[in-house]
Amino acid sequence: MCLLFYYQLTLPLLFAVGTAVIGSLQFGYNTGVINAPQIVSTHRHDLLLLKMNNLIRLPFIDADVPVSHLQIIEGFYNETWTSRYSEHISRTTLTTLWSTSVAIFSVGGIVGSFSMGLFVNRFGRRNSMLMANVLAFVAAAFMGLSKVAASWEMLIAGRFIVGLYSGLSTGFVPMYVGEIAPTSLRGALGTLHQLGVVLGILIAQIFGLEGLLGNASLWPLLLGFTCVPALVQCVLLPFCPESPRFLLINQNQESKARSVLEKLRGTEDVRDDMQEMQEESRQMAREPSVTIPELFTTPAYRQPIFIAIMLQLSQQLSGINAVFYYSTGIFLRAGVPHPVYATIGAGVVNTAFTVVSLFIVERVGRRSLHLVGLMGMAVSAVLITIAMALLDQLSWMSYVSIAAIFCFVAFFEIGPGPIPWFIVAELFSQGPRPAAMAVAGFSNWSANFLVGMGFQYVEQLCGPYVFIIFTVLLLGFFVFTYLKVPETKGRTFDEIASSFRHSASGESFGKYTTEEFNSDI
Ligand code: GLC
Repeated sequence: MCLLFYYQLTLPLLFAVGTAVIGSLQFGYNTGVINAPQIVSTHRHDLLLLKMNNLIRLPFIDADVPVSHLQIIEGFYNETWTSRYSEHISRTTLTTLWSTSVAIFSVGGIVGSFSMGLFVNRFGRRNSMLMANVLAFVAAAFMGLSKVAASWEMLIAGRFIVGLYSGLSTGFVPMYVGEIAPTSLRGALGTLHQLGVVLGILIAQIFGLEGLLGNASLWPLLLGFTCVPALVQCVLLPFCPESPRFLLINQNQESKARSVLEKLRGTEDVRDDMQEMQEESRQMAREPSVTIPELFTTPAYRQPIFIAIMLQLSQQLSGINAVFYYSTGIFLRAGVPHPVYATIGAGVVNTAFTVVSLFIVERVGRRSLHLVGLMGMAVSAVLITIAMALLDQLSWMSYVSIAAIFCFVAFFEIGPGPIPWFIVAELFSQGPRPAAMAVAGFSNWSANFLVGMGFQYVEQLCGPYVFIIFTVLLLGFFVFTYLKVPETKGRTFDEIASSFRHSASGESFGKYTTEEFNSDI
């Protein structure tokens, strides 16, 4: 197994995947950056000014939390408002502007992920990734220059544009990686997308420290930094090959597809891959190209699209972004003395366990890892709740809460983090894949938006019991995965698709079980 792993992992393949996942890193960076722990100011004059005007607002934090945790970008909004209108911004307006700046990223993501299908078949996978960088440059300019231009509108526009870019990336990258990876490495390489995301989050958390870029003068650089990965990707992408599946199946360029495959596989013997793609191509010739509504009306696609959507929802409604968007606040509330470092600790655990998943996903399989991850998160969420609820009586519960949050994050990265992103490409053949990935991405980003917006309010209602909601959802997704999600490890795209076709022609979805799917192959 190990030998096979290294044998198939050629340098050109690693280079192409590594270059593609710079797009994932951008998504992670921009997820983490706006919540970077020290987008919080300790500048006395800002604090006094805002305190005088009753403008101190911190999500989930009681009024008596130290004033040293004021968000610095909010400070900039206040200053800009004051100099434009000669009066201080109202608390409500400030809250609205700030929430919009945070949430508009996911709105961009929803639009971007849904539009990815417009690009991939027209321009190819690689060129689509290349073109999307225009958005990253424009966004970096808007956000980076918003302070000198004294314009929060530019910052909000920049966040929307980088959200568009990220939405496109969450479709382009898993699709490209899934299509160039050999069957036996599809899960491991697919997990690299998530590794890019988590590294991006971690980099943003570290750069966001006050001593680095997370301070009142340098925050525009922190946001504008997104142009650096974009530049690197633009330089490297032209050296990466187009997806051979796209070349052969969509463009009918057989010899080009073969030579790309030879390069990626490091051998001239690419008969098996070619045969499999040709089979898929014949199959595709029998099916007209698939639109989004057809995914829901064609029996053979209905099962996999339902599974794809549920897996995306299981990722987002697990509550992971309640932690990543609000961890510093949660840790503060849980009585952790240095919340900033606990937040970075969560980023480190997040990265470490993605690496663990990377190494075991081809051995243990997607389904088992997803199940273990969901159950582990559910148990951790119960622990978080207990720790939060008992905090007043037992002060050491703050340490239990850190441990529980770290476990929550670790179990997320074992399965629910990486798997939903790459499994969609596995569940569909070439024809329906772009439409399916658009629908899956749309579901993911919409749920992301919902949690990002809704968590603060629900937390205010439920207090320490908020994570119970996620426990219930996690258990529901566990049952669904157990009953409906098939194992895709080691199976070709064509084998997976024909199993769904077979199952759809024989039985209704309600009766379809994993055992039937597995025995079908
Ligand atoms: C996944 C999610 C993303 C989340 C991240 C945390 O990529 O899609 O929303 O922030 O994992 O690691």
